[in-house]
Amino acid sequence: MNNVTDPNLVPKFKFYTGEEVPCMGMGTFGSDRFTPEQVSEAVAGAIRAGYRLFDCAACYGNEDQIGQVFTKAFNEGVVERKELFIMTKVWNDMHEKVKESCRKSMIDLQCDYIDLFFIHWPFPNYHAPGCDADARNPDARPFSVDEFVATYGRCEELVEKGSIRYIGISNMTIPKLEAVLPRLKIKPAACEMELHPCFQQQELFDYLVAHDIQPIGFMPIGSPTRPERDMCPEDIADIQTPEMKAIAEAHGIHPAVVALKWAVQRGQIPIPFSIHEKEYVSNLESTTKDPLTEEEMKLIAALERNNRLVKGQVFLWEGAKDWHDLWDEDGKIVE
Ligand SMILES: NC(=O)c1ccc[n+]([C@@H]2O[C@H](COP(=O)([O-])OP(=O)(O)OC[C@H]3O[C@@H](n4cnc5c(N)ncnc54)[C@H](OP(=O)(O)O)[C@@H]3O)[C@@H](O)[C@H]2O)c1
Repeated sequence: MNNVTDPNLVPKFKFYTGEEVPCMGMGTFGSDRFTPEQVSEAVAGAIRAGYRLFDCAACYGNEDQIGQVFTKAFNEGVVERKELFIMTKVWNDMHEKVKESCRKSMIDLQCDYIDLFFIHWPFPNYHAPGCDADARNPDARPFSVDEFVATYGRCEELVEKGSIRYIGISNMTIPKLEAVLPRLKIKPAACEMELHPCFQQQELFDYLVAHDIQPIGFMPIGSPTRPERDMCPEDIADIQTPEMKAIAEAHGIHPAVVALKWAVQRGQIPIPFSIHEKEYVSNLESTTKDPLTEEEMKLIAALERNNRLVKGQVFLWEGAKDWHDLWDEDGKIVE
């Protein structure tokens, strides 16, 4: 493979413990479009290309195949387990069975520990993978501080047992964090959240930085291949904006790579996905050279359009108005 990036040259961000992690990882959500085999093949290629951080999840339905790839890479001496930073997540229907969910992910990923284990969504509201955007689960309920703290406590037990090294939260809001943080024994190391030029979540981003919780940005390119059901007519395509195209042209790179450079320079860890070698190679390589100028960073900061792509409507409970209720936009937890 050409253009392998030396993992030692990839800049690092520091967790609150002082541990350093790569400033970019690879996403593994096949998005209804790519098979587990295509995704795991990309993971194999990405390890060879120099990626050391991988974002997995039980609900992506491909941990089994990715685990085979990890083991093969270890056996072939491409990389050692301790050089990888493997993240996975407990899905909504397993909040009461966190231990079982973690054990299944460990078996599937063929790992005897997980580096960072996320609570994927702060609600236990289950919806079947691939269901329609207007599907509703009659058992869905609003966010509960007590339930969340109990789920998080089950993750804390996994840290104490040595099954996981860090706990992460995902799809959270400031009001929810304000309510739960004082009640957690072990501080979350990272928060996975939607972040791309037209959706920057500046307030939440600043809150996390102030609390020494590392922001990890999902859909960093604006997820052009997201499932149909997550596409709305009002959505903006970040990488098609004239500003992103102009910056890309000035650097001789794809606008997708501009979005990733912006992410890393801003201070979040983007986890772009691609099954195409040329793309994932250039994505990682972008962290080591030709940074955006201050001017370009400012231009991208001004692209904020509050354009949330993952609205989460399938998690709504009876009585909820619409998807805005999931995001506590008035500064209070919507119950
Ligand atoms: N915690 C959560 O709730 C949550 C939610 C969503 C996602 N995630 C995580 O975030 C990861 C990333 O999100 P995502 O996969 O939805 O979106 P994304 O990374 O923003 O976009 C992925 C798409 O961008 C295109 N792309 C990638 N690199 C490119 C390049 N260099 N040049 C041109 N196009 C490029 C590819 O499309 P083509 O194939 O057309 O080239 C690829 O399918 C997921 O895989 C998952 O691990 C987490």
